[in-house]
Amino acid sequence: MSRKRTLRLLGFVGGVGALLLGVVVLGVPAPALAQKAPAAALPAGYAGAETCKGCHEDQFTKFEQTKMGRLFLKHPRNSTESLGCESCHGPGKAHADAGGGKGVGGIVSFAKDDTTPVERRNATCLGCHQKSARLFWQGSPHESRDVACTSCHKLMETTSSRAQLARATVIETCGQCHLQKRAQTMRSSHMPLREGKMTCTACHNPHGTVTPALLKENSANETCFTCHAEKRGPFLWEHAPVVESCATCHDPHGSNHENLLKVAKPRLCQQCHVESRHPTSPYSRREKQVLGRSCVSCHANIHGSNHPSGHAFTR
Ligand code: HEC
Ligand code: HEC
Ligand code: HEC
Ligand code: HEC
Ligand code: HEC
Ligand code: HEC
Ligand code: HEC
Ligand code: HEC
Ligand code: HEC
Ligand code: HEC
Repeated sequence: MSRKRTLRLLGFVGGVGALLLGVVVLGVPAPALAQKAPAAALPAGYAGAETCKGCHEDQFTKFEQTKMGRLFLKHPRNSTESLGCESCHGPGKAHADAGGGKGVGGIVSFAKDDTTPVERRNATCLGCHQKSARLFWQGSPHESRDVACTSCHKLMETTSSRAQLARATVIETCGQCHLQKRAQTMRSSHMPLREGKMTCTACHNPHGTVTPALLKENSANETCFTCHAEKRGPFLWEHAPVVESCATCHDPHGSNHENLLKVAKPRLCQQCHVESRHPTSPYSRREKQVLGRSCVSCHANIHGSNHPSGHAFTR
C-alpha cells in the first residue's frame, strides 16, 4: 500500500472515530470537537498540563526535559500518560480553581510534609512501574518501613546519569539512610565501589527480592559467584563456612582488614578453631603458626581444595 493511501485511510478511520466520539460521548458535531479535543479528553477533576504551566512554568520547563516529561507532555502513548502533571500529582482542577497553594485542593506533593499516605503515593508510581524489578516490592523491607519511591527518585528534574535518582550516584542515594554502609566503602579494603566500577545495585535490588537482605541472587554466595566464579567449586575438600556464606568471613561493604575480612587473622580462624592437630593460640610456642599471613600461609586454599590430600587446605 502506498504511504499516501495509508495516510488517507488512517485519516478516514480517524474521522469516523472522532465523529462517533463526538456524537456518542459528547453529543457535539465533529467540527467543533476538532478544536476542543485535547481538553475534552480529560476526565472530570483534571485541569490539564497547560493549566499547571500557567502558574508553575519553572517546574513545567524542568520536567519537560526529563524522560517522563518528554513522553507525557509531548508524545503520550495512552490515557494515563496524557494526564501529564496529574498522572502523578492527581486530579488538580480543585487546586487550580482555588488559585493553588501549599496543600490546597488535595494535590499530592510527594514532599516530606505530604499528608497523603506513602502507600498511596507509591501506588501512583506502581500503576505504571509494577513490572520486572518491582515484582517483589510488596512486603519488601523498604516497602514495609514506608520508604517512598521518591526517597530514592527525583522526578521533576534529572540529577543523575541514569534512573532519575535522588542523588548523583547510587551510593549517595542509599547513603542518605545507610550511613554506615556508605562509610565502609571508604575503608582500606574495599571492592571498587568508590572508584565507580560497581555499586550497591551490583548485589542488591532495592525494590524487593525473594532473598533476605534484598540480594539479587538466591543467596549471598550466588551473588558473589556472579563475579568470583572461581570460588564456586565444586571442591573435593570443602570448607564448611565457605559453603555456608562468604559473609561469614568477609564484609562485602568494606573493611580495615585486608581482603575484606571481618576480623583480622589469626583471630578470624580462632573464632572456630580453638584446638586442632596443632595449637592455634597466639600464646603457643609454635609462633610460626600465627606470624605473617598466619594460618593461610600454610592453609593457602582456604576456600576449598581439589588436591587428593588437600583435606586441610594446605595444597
Ligand atoms: C492559579 C495558579 C496555580 C495553578 C493553575 C496550579 N498551581 Fe500548583 N500551586 C500554586 C501555588 C501558589 C502553590 C504554592 C507554592 C508554594 O508555596 O511554594 C502551588 C503548589 C503546588 C504544589 C506543591 C503543593 C504542596 O502542598 O507542597 C504542587 C505539587 C502543585 N502546585 C501542582 C500543581 C499542578 C499539578 C497543577 C495543574 C493541575 C497546578 N499545581 C496548578 C499555584 C497554582
Ligand atoms: C512522574 C511523576 C511526576 C509528574 C508527571 C510531575 N511531577 Fe511534579 N513532583 C513530583 C515529585 C515526586 C515531586 C516532589 C519533589 C521531587 O521529587 O522533585 C514533585 C514536586 C512538584 C512541585 C512542588 C515544588 C517542587 O518543585 O518541589 C510542583 C509545583 C510540581 N511538582 C509541579 C508539577 C508540574 C507543573 C508538572 C507537569 C509539568 C509535574 N509536577 C509533573 C512528581 C511528578
Ligand atoms: C503514567 C505512567 C507513569 C507514572 C504514573 C510514573 N511513571 Fe515513571 N516512567 C514512565 C515511563 C513511560 C518512563 C520512561 C521509561 C523508559 O524510557 O523506559 C518512566 C521513567 C521512569 C524512571 C527512569 C527510568 C530510567 O531508566 O531512566 C524512573 C526512575 C521512574 N519512571 C520512576 C517513577 C516514580 C518514582 C513514579 C511515581 C512518583 C513514576 N515513575 C510515575 C511512566 C510512568
Ligand atoms: C531504596 C531506594 C529505592 C527505592 C525506595 C525505589 N527505587 Fe527505583 N531505583 C533505585 C535505584 C538505585 C535504581 C537504579 C537501579 C540500578 O542501578 O540498576 C532504581 C531504578 C528504578 C527504575 C529504572 C530501572 C528499572 O528498574 O526499571 C524505575 C522505573 C524505578 N526505579 C521505579 C521505582 C518505583 C516505582 C519505586 C517505588 C515503588 C522505586 N523505584 C523505589 C532505588 C530505589
Ligand atoms: C529513605 C531511607 C532509605 C534509603 C534512601 C535506602 N534505604 Fe535501605 N533500608 C531503609 C530502612 C528503613 C530499612 C529497614 C531497616 C531495618 O529493618 O532495620 C532498609 C533496609 C535495607 C536493607 C536490608 C534488608 C534486610 O532484609 O535486612 C538493604 C540491603 C538495603 N536497605 C539496601 C538499600 C540500598 C541498596 C539502597 C540504595 C539503592 C537503600 N537501601 C536506600 C531505608 C532506606
Ligand atoms: C558485593 C556485594 C554487595 C555490595 C556491592 C553491597 N552489598 Fe550490601 N550486602 C551484601 C550482602 C551479601 C549482605 C548480607 C550480609 C550478611 O548476610 O551478613 C548485605 C547486607 C546489606 C544490608 C543489611 C544488613 C546489614 O548489615 O545491616 C544493608 C543495609 C546493605 N547491605 C546496604 C548496602 C549499601 C547501601 C550498599 C552500597 C554502598 C551495599 N549494600 C553494597 C552484599 C553487597
Ligand atoms: C559485580 C561484581 C562483583 C560481585 C558481585 C562481587 N565482587 Fe568481590 N570483587 C569484585 C572486584 C572487581 C574486585 C577487585 C578485584 C581486583 O582488584 O582484582 C573484588 C574483590 C574482592 C575481594 C578482595 C578484596 C581485596 O581487598 O583485595 C574480596 C574478598 C571479594 N571481592 C569478596 C566478595 C564477596 C564476599 C562477594 C559477595 C558478597 C563479592 N566479592 C561479590 C567484583 C565483585
Ligand atoms: C573461612 C573464612 C572465609 C570464607 C567463608 C570465605 N573466605 Fe574468601 N578469603 C578468606 C581469607 C582468609 C582470604 C585471604 C587469603 C589470603 O590471604 O591468601 C580470602 C580471600 C578472598 C578473596 C581475595 C583473594 C582471592 O583468593 O581471590 C576473594 C575474592 C574471596 N576471598 C572471595 C570469597 C568468596 C566469593 C567466598 C564465598 C564463596 C569467600 N571468599 C568465603 C577467608 C574466607
Ligand atoms: C565460622 C567458623 C569457621 C571459621 C571462621 C573458619 N573455619 Fe575452618 N572449619 C570450620 C568447620 C565447621 C570445619 C569443618 C570441621 C570438621 O569437619 O570437623 C572447618 C575445617 C577446617 C580445616 C580442615 C579441618 C579438618 O578437620 O579437615 C582447616 C585446616 C581449617 N578449617 C582452617 C581454617 C582457617 C585457616 C581459617 C581462617 C582463615 C578457618 N578455618 C576459619 C569452621 C570455620
Ligand atoms: C606452618 C604451617 C601452618 C600454619 C601457619 C598453620 N597450620 Fe594448621 N595445619 C598445618 C598442617 C601441616 C596441618 C596438618 C595437615 C594434615 O594433616 O595434612 C594442620 C592442621 C590444621 C587443622 C586440622 C586439620 C585436620 O586435618 O585435623 C586445623 C583446624 C588447622 N590446622 C588450623 C590452623 C589455624 C586456625 C591456623 C592459624 C592460627 C593454622 N592452622 C596455622 C600447618 C599449619
